[in-house]
Amino acid sequence: MGKTAVIFCSEYGSTKRYASYIAEKLQAELFTTTEIKEIASYETIVFGGGIYAGALNGGDWLKKNQVALLDKKLVIFTCSVADPQIEKNQESIHIGLKKSLTEELVDHAKVFYFRGAMDYKRLKLTHKGIMKVMFQFLKHKKERSAEEDGMLSIQNTPVDYVDVSRADALIFYVKE
Ligand SMILES: Cc1cc2nc3c(=O)[nH]c(=O)nc-3n(C[C@H](O)[C@H](O)[C@H](O)COP(=O)(O)O)c2cc1C
Repeated sequence: MGKTAVIFCSEYGSTKRYASYIAEKLQAELFTTTEIKEIASYETIVFGGGIYAGALNGGDWLKKNQVALLDKKLVIFTCSVADPQIEKNQESIHIGLKKSLTEELVDHAKVFYFRGAMDYKRLKLTHKGIMKVMFQFLKHKKERSAEEDGMLSIQNTPVDYVDVSRADALIFYVKE
């Protein structure tokens, strides 16, 4: 296993918790997308970002570095409030990745899906606005799935589904 950099983009800290755990276990260097200055010296890049309105936060950094990344072992992990253990959620996150990144990058990367957290009352105003629209949409939906009901309840109750041990499979894959 060559040198590894763990790079992340995190608004409220869930992705950072996974990234810190992964970096510690791999004894890798940890950077935000603004801190990382060069990737030429790394053989493996692990990139993590939250899912925001279906797109990967920090995806622009991946696209900007696409040419170099296609020559490396690339691992991408997502952090979403939707449970990626549910197949259709994972599928829609995957489709969102292909849309917000490039197909080439997604096909080249090994992707892992983790679950994050949300405290609606502590969101930035712009994020609160986006979530409000989604809550309104769900409220008026005639038939809601259990997952959608769970999503609606976040408006009143903060959720924290972060379980860093879920990243053990990613760590194992990088060490392989
Ligand atoms: C404005 C906004 C949009 C979001 N959109 C989605 C989404 O489309 N799908 C999802 O599963 N989670 C969504 N989330 C939840 C985030 O993915 C979740 O809070 C994640 O843990 C954020 O990670 P971070 O704090 O590291 O940025 C959204 C959160 C906000 C604030």
